[in-house]
Amino acid sequence: MTQTSSAPAIVIHEKGFGKTLRTDRWWLYPGLVLFGLTLFLIYGMWSALQADYYWYSAGESGFGGYLAPFYSPLLFIKEGVAGAAPMSHSIFGAWPSWWPEWIPPSPSLLILAVPGIFRFTCYYYRKAYYRAFTGTPPACAVGALPRNRKAGYKGETGLMLFQNIHRITMYFALLYIFIFFYDAYLAFFRGGEFGVGVGTILLLGNPIMLGLYSFGCHSIRHLVSGRRDCYSCSMLGEVSHTNGKIVGWLNKRHELFAWLSLIWIMVADYYVRLVSTGIIHDFSTWG
Ligand code: FES
Repeated sequence: MTQTSSAPAIVIHEKGFGKTLRTDRWWLYPGLVLFGLTLFLIYGMWSALQADYYWYSAGESGFGGYLAPFYSPLLFIKEGVAGAAPMSHSIFGAWPSWWPEWIPPSPSLLILAVPGIFRFTCYYYRKAYYRAFTGTPPACAVGALPRNRKAGYKGETGLMLFQNIHRITMYFALLYIFIFFYDAYLAFFRGGEFGVGVGTILLLGNPIMLGLYSFGCHSIRHLVSGRRDCYSCSMLGEVSHTNGKIVGWLNKRHELFAWLSLIWIMVADYYVRLVSTGIIHDFSTWG
């Protein structure tokens, strides 16, 4: 007996933005990304433009204190600003005279570009904001925002070619992990006395989260375990294989750590601002 089978008809959804046959809550993920990244951008710009209250040491002048992560490292410090760090924390000294008067003298504005570009060009964030902000498409099997078909799809070969800078900014971003660990070390002291406060925990968690995010980077995975045809052919190959397994573990969780590190740095920064302005009290062993 012969059996006849007919392939199921392929049903295609209507054309148009958001049109789909999906019945799940596909809009939830791009919606949350839109909310989360917008909140981060607004907070980041707000914090960077404040130019004050980024340091807290409860008035103690000895070693130690909390530095808001959005202001670290301190390349220059403007003296006489409320909540500013002592001049000894400045890498290059006093605030430069060439700085335009119409821009707030904020140390944060000098250093935000590198970590900002690093995150902006991250492979995970690209996926997230292409979907959430440009809707191209907003989710799998969901209609995209209309675009100029004649221009064709160029992927990241046209305007977005600059995304390749990610592999360069990655090296600089790794430096921030060490800088933030130093800030965490500082946070274990106040007036030269060892102790622990809520700010210490937040400032210590910051480089840990950033490290878990950064070491899962696709560029790092390529750097430490790519470019090889055979892992078992040499000792270096086996080292690469081990590195690849560690980075691969983090890489699989890259999205998770991207968000945890993003939220953590924002909370830590805001916390230091709150204790610096005196709005909240820092619970600590220093009393
Ligand atoms: S791919 Fe996300 S940090 Fe490099």
